[in-house]
Amino acid sequence: MQGHGMCLKLLLAFALLLLQCVDGGEVSRKHRDANVTGRCIEKERQALLAFKRGLVDKFDVLSSWGSEAQKQDCCRWIGVSCSNQTGHVLQLDLSYKVVGAHSWNYSLLEGKMISPKLIELQYLHHLDLHEINFNGSHIPDFIGSLSNLRYLDLSYTNFGGKFPSQVGNLTNLQHLDLRFNDFINAENLDWLPLLSSLRYLDLSGTNLNNVFDWPEAINKLPELTNLTLWECDLPSPILSPLSYINSSKSLASVDLLGNHLSTSSIFLWLSNYSTSLNLVGSVPDVLGNMSSLAHLKLLNNQLEGGDPHSFSRLCSLQILDLATNRLNVLDFSWNDLAGSLPDLTNLSSLEILLLYNNQLSRGIPESIGRMSKLKIIDFHMKFFGVISETHFSTLSKLQYLDLSSQNSSNSLVLDIHADWIPPFQLYSINLGSCKMGLHFPKWLQTQKQIKYLDISDAGISDILPSWFWSLCRNVEFMNLTGNQIRGSFANLTLEFSYSPELHLSSNKLEGPIPSVLSTASYLDLSHNKLSGSISFLCSSAAIGLSFLDLSRNNVSREVPDCLTHLENLVMLDLSYNALSGKIPTTIGSVFRIETLKLRSNRFVGQLPLSLKNCTSLVLVDVGDNKLSRPIPKWLGVSLRNLVILMLSSNHFNGSLPAQICHLTDIQILDFSMNNISGSIPKCLNNLTTLVQKGKSSLEITHFLEHSNGTTTYEDDATFIWKGRMYSYKNTLGLVKRIDLSSNILTGEIPSEITHLVGLVSLNLSENQLTGQIIPEIGNLQSLEALDLSRNQIEGRIPTSLARIDRLDFLDLSFNNLSGGIPIGTQLQSFDPSVYAGNPQLCGAPLKKMCAAQHVQTDLSNQEDDKDEIITLGFYISMGVGFAAGFWGRYAYFKFLNGLNDWLYVRVALIKRQLKDMLNR
Ligand SMILES: *[C@@H]1O[C@H](CO)[C@@H](O)[C@H](O)[C@H]1NC(C)=O
Ligand SMILES: *[C@@H]1O[C@H](CO)[C@@H](O)[C@H](O)[C@H]1NC(C)=O
Ligand SMILES: *[C@@H]1O[C@H](CO)[C@@H](O)[C@H](O)[C@H]1NC(C)=O
Ligand SMILES: *[C@@H]1O[C@H](CO)[C@@H](O)[C@H](O)[C@H]1NC(C)=O
Ligand SMILES: *[C@@H]1O[C@H](CO)[C@@H](O)[C@H](O)[C@H]1NC(C)=O
Ligand SMILES: *[C@@H]1O[C@H](CO)[C@@H](O)[C@H](O)[C@H]1NC(C)=O
Ligand SMILES: *[C@@H]1O[C@H](CO)[C@@H](O)[C@H](O)[C@H]1NC(C)=O
Repeated sequence: MQGHGMCLKLLLAFALLLLQCVDGGEVSRKHRDANVTGRCIEKERQALLAFKRGLVDKFDVLSSWGSEAQKQDCCRWIGVSCSNQTGHVLQLDLSYKVVGAHSWNYSLLEGKMISPKLIELQYLHHLDLHEINFNGSHIPDFIGSLSNLRYLDLSYTNFGGKFPSQVGNLTNLQHLDLRFNDFINAENLDWLPLLSSLRYLDLSGTNLNNVFDWPEAINKLPELTNLTLWECDLPSPILSPLSYINSSKSLASVDLLGNHLSTSSIFLWLSNYSTSLNLVGSVPDVLGNMSSLAHLKLLNNQLEGGDPHSFSRLCSLQILDLATNRLNVLDFSWNDLAGSLPDLTNLSSLEILLLYNNQLSRGIPESIGRMSKLKIIDFHMKFFGVISETHFSTLSKLQYLDLSSQNSSNSLVLDIHADWIPPFQLYSINLGSCKMGLHFPKWLQTQKQIKYLDISDAGISDILPSWFWSLCRNVEFMNLTGNQIRGSFANLTLEFSYSPELHLSSNKLEGPIPSVLSTASYLDLSHNKLSGSISFLCSSAAIGLSFLDLSRNNVSREVPDCLTHLENLVMLDLSYNALSGKIPTTIGSVFRIETLKLRSNRFVGQLPLSLKNCTSLVLVDVGDNKLSRPIPKWLGVSLRNLVILMLSSNHFNGSLPAQICHLTDIQILDFSMNNISGSIPKCLNNLTTLVQKGKSSLEITHFLEHSNGTTTYEDDATFIWKGRMYSYKNTLGLVKRIDLSSNILTGEIPSEITHLVGLVSLNLSENQLTGQIIPEIGNLQSLEALDLSRNQIEGRIPTSLARIDRLDFLDLSFNNLSGGIPIGTQLQSFDPSVYAGNPQLCGAPLKKMCAAQHVQTDLSNQEDDKDEIITLGFYISMGVGFAAGFWGRYAYFKFLNGLNDWLYVRVALIKRQLKDMLNR
């Protein structure tokens, strides 16, 4: 989470670096401003304007691009850089880093097509369209004519069609990034060797499963330093004895995550030798020859050595490697190593030991305690066994310790005496989900330099010791979530040096919240027993707060009307407390807010008019309060970004304003259990997200910018689904529902509702609706739950209802329906109770038989395309979700990308710490 931000920073830094190195002839905006007019070449200006016409710029991010007089100089347009000598456009960078990203979606720009006029930019050598969604359109052939291109980034652009092998004509290319598009398989990589200047290549996500000669193609790139081929379904290489490996001389980074290669074949590929498959013989030679290879990552492959014996041989090979290359990093992370870790004490100069994501079930030998040079130990995840003081006996240089795992059933036991004095001073302690014992670890008191502390979910059930906060002056990140830590903040008197990220959720902390906590940038105190008022928010220090979760505590009284300085707050959750009074007017000053949750308190009055100002709101949940008055019209007019609006269980009255139909992004509309009267607006078909099937991200993600970087969080929401209460987070983005139940709505169900083909759940029960069920109800093909019970609906059950394959929750009870339940359909499979209370209804599954004239048979084609779309229920059971279709895949790769970011962060952190160490 925290890491994401650092990664962005890294990327930014990298982008800057590139900008600096690309070309001496290029000038920065500052330089250009000194010399303004007339440098832009008319033909190129026209080409850029044509290019812009191929984009969809909803947010007007390209407002500087135009034909108006004051916009003449295209060299000053955003994303464009020209040569200061010739005026030719050299660089076009419209990646989200330049034009900005949507709060929870991707680039603000979208694409329709790439205008052929682009080839007028003959001098262009840098083109970056990263994350602009081109919705499956094709990369035009003429891309191969931009012969000066040195840098081409079309990653995550959702281009489709054939793999664009014309890029083979771009012989000056040094950097090529085509990862994660929707190309049809690359038939071959014959074009690749033409790119003899290529240094950086990323084709991740391209299906290369038929390209057996991929290593040869890559071998022909003499300058290649960085190679990334994630999830390419690479076949294990077949090598002819004569294949040479020129590129390994320059390769500095190889990343093949998510293929299913055997390591021996890779080592072989990376070697000059193809005659021997003997791992023992070949590995040291291989590594010995690759003098510039500093880091070989073979993430998620099958590193041979599942058997500990062969693993230890591999290890001794690493010793040779370390000796000849002076490497001091041992990285076996992300493999399927099993068994126990062998004795590594011969590696006496080892400083960094990375073994995360392996499964060494037999634990870690105490001998690592003798590797006195160790500075970094990272054993994250899937380890077992007991760690004692002996494991650390001589590790006086240790600064970074990660023994965390993903869940506590799968973790290390830390067996350490209460009075242990460790030899080290750690910056970074990550013991998340380690079993640390019931008592708060006393040895932490000796650690005076902590910046990162995670002892979450560690089984601690103790009072927070009085010395604890004094350790935290320099803390940037803390996670104590999921213990049973008691006590209060009474002894928290120091000021934090940084605006820390504090995760203190799910403990038993009590008492009032001190104002010093308002200096945090991220504060999660949810699921505790905190009480008193929340006046700490009135501290002017709260200006840096971007995330505040106080849900499920016992805070009470009114929310003070002092929120004027919360100008950076993006997420506010005060749900499930005992807050009362009105929602304060100063909420209007919290204008960056995207998530507002006030559910289950005792708020009264109306939604304050000032809330109009909070136009970034994506989620509003004020359910289960005592709010009243009609639902304001401005809600639909001002809060246009709303995706989730939950006003249920209040005292809202009046009729539904037609303006809610302006909420084109809405996915969840929950007005249930109020006193809303009148009819259902007909304009519902304007809810454009609901009239589309699928096409949603799995999660609703928000980005928080703060002094330490960027953090993300995902929205969650809790509501009744098919009769049970569920909480959604990982799949919330897929839930599309309308719930108007338990109000006093009258009139007919508007037929426009059948346009909402994306709707997954529709609940109109317990109203006074009349008329018939719309015959076209069967159009709602995504529907899984339909509740029309307890109304006054009459007429027959339309046969089309039987054609909604996914419908598995239905309630039509207590209406005035009549005639036969369509037979020969799944409608018979429901419990009879779903039809109860309709005296004139007949046919199975009801006991009452129909007279012959009432029988309805659905003889339409029952052939269904079940595998095409996977139901929401499926996603829910998957947890994290692996969705079908492009959007799902996109999200999945996003998830993988996050994983990579996480790796980056680790490496970044390690590098930073190494730098710190060297500086001493
Ligand atoms: C172009 O810009 C570069 C870098 O700012 C500068 O070194 C060079 O002198 C400039 N050339 C001209 C002709 O102004
Ligand atoms: C740029 O500005 C400098 C002084 O501001 C001037 O001497 C030079 O001629 C200008 N160059 C162009 C191409 O306008
Ligand atoms: C690529 O190069 C080949 C051979 O030089 C040429 O025939 C072809 O037209 C070029 N394609 C493009 C798109 O420039
Ligand atoms: C290439 O790999 C090296 C070594 O891992 C790394 O430092 C560098 O940042 C990478 N370059 C790019 C452009 O990602
Ligand atoms: C904090 O710890 C909990 C429990 O181990 C974990 O679920 C959560 O992801 C952690 N939060 C962060 C930001 O690392
Ligand atoms: C605060 O610290 C003092 C000792 O410094 C201790 O006696 C007291 O119990 C602590 N109070 C709380 C509420 O933890
Ligand atoms: C609305 O937000 C702006 C900042 O965008 C702020 O200056 C103004 O005070 C806010 N208005 C209200 C009524 O809170």
